[in-house]
Amino acid sequence: MADNVLVTGGAGFIGSNLVRDLIKKDNSVTVVDDLSMGRLSNLPESDQLTFYQKSITDRKFMDELLINRQFDYIYLLAAVASVADTIKRPEVTHQINQDANLWIMETLRRNQLRPKKVVFTSSAAVYGDDPLQPKSEQSRIVPLSPYAIDKFASERFVIDYGQLYGLNTAATRFFNVYGPRQNPSSPYSGVLSLITQRLQDNQIFTLFGDGTQSRDFVYVDDVILALQLIADMPESNGQVYNVATGHSASLIETIRIFEKISGDTLKIEFADCRLGDIQRSEADICKLRKLGYEPKFDLETGLRRYWEFNQNY
Ligand code: UD1
Repeated sequence: MADNVLVTGGAGFIGSNLVRDLIKKDNSVTVVDDLSMGRLSNLPESDQLTFYQKSITDRKFMDELLINRQFDYIYLLAAVASVADTIKRPEVTHQINQDANLWIMETLRRNQLRPKKVVFTSSAAVYGDDPLQPKSEQSRIVPLSPYAIDKFASERFVIDYGQLYGLNTAATRFFNVYGPRQNPSSPYSGVLSLITQRLQDNQIFTLFGDGTQSRDFVYVDDVILALQLIADMPESNGQVYNVATGHSASLIETIRIFEKISGDTLKIEFADCRLGDIQRSEADICKLRKLGYEPKFDLETGLRRYWEFNQNY
């Protein structure tokens, strides 16, 4: 076996793609996921995998797990990812999106546990609606929801714990991630998972706004590449990284590519802009590039892969 790895939220969209890759690379992987959004079927069958259907807010369980298993790498992906949900129930989601992550860091500190790296996954949501583009890690932080506030605070906790107590830690800010196993079941799911599902089921897609809004859509395999690079490189200690492609595309442009790939026409109904939506989002990924990262999937290649996966799923 290579390393002993913990992935919180490992049954979710990004988590399960990471787990599959880690297992392929011969690691022993432990997943903690309460299956509130994740699915057991996202995970591969493997004797290298140990799965616990548990919430990361279960302190006793997390303490025992961290102390008993002495993980080499810890990826913190468990979160309530729906911004709308965090606005609706901020106290509950705060327990998950911030307190539980702080508790994990405390457990590491109190027990002198020293993983090779702890990687916390944050979001471009921390940049809020500041119109200045592209966003570099130095850009203004404008968290506009409990989700963004908790993500930013956890980012800081994880990095500051590294600096205060000599732990190797880093954080990522994901832009708009898409790809296999993204759950389209909520209206707040990633827009590309919704478009795929509408195209497949020949249903109407509601486009909020005029379609000129643009996003830096990054294929999940590139995100997995970035996560492991950040985990492996000593230079990433104490650092936060945008994870994206460095290019943005408008929603209309993206839909046209999708239609070309699928050979179908998406039925669109236009509606008013969604409250709080931003017009443009693009990342500066120079910092991540310095670690050796180069995205392998441009939008068309990624969408094609994603579409083909769904055809065979
Ligand atoms: C994304 C994140 C969010 C984060 C934000 C910060 C996802 C799923 N969400 O939101 O957690 O706070 O970045 O920058 O990654 N759209 C439609 N019709 C739909 C759904 C969406 O037209 O049915 C539009 C939206 O109005 C938006 C665009 O598609 O303009 C992208 O939406 P979405 O995938 O939800 O991502 P973000 O809004 O960028």
